[in-house]
Amino acid sequence: MEKVIEVKDLSFGYGERLVLENLNFSVERGDFVGIIGPNGSGKSTLIKLLLNIVKPLRGEINILGQSIEKFNCWSKIGYVSQKANSFNTAFPATVEEVVSANLYSKVGLFKRINKEHKNLVYDALKTVGMEDYKDKLIGNLSGGQQQRVFIARVLVSKPEIMFLDEPTVGIDARTEGALYCLLGKLNSEMGITIVMISHDIGAMTVHANKIACMTNKQIIINQNSKEFINSSLRDVYGYDVNLQVPRHFCENCCMKEGK
Ligand SMILES: Nc1ncnc2c1ncn2[C@@H]1O[C@H](COP(=O)(O)OP(=O)(O)OP(=O)(O)O)[C@@H](O)[C@H]1O
Ligand SMILES: [Mg+2]
Repeated sequence: MEKVIEVKDLSFGYGERLVLENLNFSVERGDFVGIIGPNGSGKSTLIKLLLNIVKPLRGEINILGQSIEKFNCWSKIGYVSQKANSFNTAFPATVEEVVSANLYSKVGLFKRINKEHKNLVYDALKTVGMEDYKDKLIGNLSGGQQQRVFIARVLVSKPEIMFLDEPTVGIDARTEGALYCLLGKLNSEMGITIVMISHDIGAMTVHANKIACMTNKQIIINQNSKEFINSSLRDVYGYDVNLQVPRHFCENCCMKEGK
């Protein structure tokens, strides 16, 4: 399988203090990797390193076969951050404008979007079930609807890899279930590689094929299996984590528990 992310001997710290030490792992095309770990274990920092927002102290990162320092196809990489940090939703923009803003690499700065671009935006909104809201102001949507629009915003540039950092924080359980299902579909039907951080271990185990646990400046990544999760969670959190998915909230979900 093609490795779309390769990390070798990666270390990073803010100032003197190391946050990540000698990480070695890879992500293959089509993987859905769920990253878990306690607060402060370096999950967001790792994503920032993979997005070249911060630079490694030591080690190597390859994205889509290229060293991250030389990598220049950032339109193939999508990033959905925690809603609260991602966008000023009081900004008076429509849903269509928010999504088309991510097309600038195709449209060119300061140029008007044409019919073809509008179709791309419509298709992205349709994928997340928000096409009927295209003329609404982003600030007038609910948290879950906004988060769908932010996913459409990433989808419009047809990414090969999507990074998501706790995308369901502050979203009700039903909408959260639906968002996980949507991500599951993007992964299984569109072949998008997904790397997602979430504290909702149960829900993530439904859709991810691999689970990465971060603790003690390290990452342990393995196939999604109950045995691996139970044993590593005990090490990571120091107690037994109840791994039951109480209910699966998405009525239309195509996925089955324990996929
Ligand atoms: N900009 C920064 N400057 C200095 N230290 C930072 C900075 N960002 C994060 N840290 C520290 O690095 C460590 C890892 O932070 P990070 O945000 O990656 O953790 P996390 O696993 O994403 O946690 P959470 O689950 O709370 O989101 C923490 O100890 C944090 O205090
Ligand atoms: Mg974080």
